[in-house]
Amino acid sequence: MKRLIPALMVLAGLAAPALAGPAQDAQIAAYLTAAKAADPGFAGFSAARGKAFFMADHTGGKPDTPSCTSCHTKNVTVAGQTRAGKAIDPMALSKTPDRFSDPAKVEKWFGRNCNSVLGRDCTPAEKGDVLSWLVSQ
Ligand code: HEC
Repeated sequence: MKRLIPALMVLAGLAAPALAGPAQDAQIAAYLTAAKAADPGFAGFSAARGKAFFMADHTGGKPDTPSCTSCHTKNVTVAGQTRAGKAIDPMALSKTPDRFSDPAKVEKWFGRNCNSVLGRDCTPAEKGDVLSWLVSQ
């Protein structure tokens, strides 16, 4: 019975991250295809790796934005702030349900933000890791 209940939850679609809908799933699937194209041995995304990447201080980007948290804060369930002081809705999908549902928006902001923080584009593996974490928050 102990094993049966989680199995039934998965079948009913109740297991985390149940928040992600078809649009977020498709976005993550597209990054998986790209990550495997870049590295045929790629073993899949890790929400833990995505969280660590998001929280870390990086070098190579702009000095005033060393981290994703410089704007999005360390608590992804609350609003962030641009450098100009404009509010940014929480990154957690549970708080902002239309997050990561528009592929053009996702790519546009990964492009800008990764270059601000890292001075380069994020890899498909990094993007997939980050999204895997944020859709579970
Ligand atoms: C200079 C401030 C700033 C930094 C630093 C920053 N972001 Fe953002 N980010 C924004 C703004 C502004 C938006 C667009 C507004 C919104 O989506 O609410 C955004 C949007 C996004 C989106 C699109 C969300 C969606 O709904 O499609 C993603 C993904 C994202 N950021 C990831 C990151 C990651 C990963 C990092 C670190 C590498 C990062 N951001 C660093 C300001 C920032």
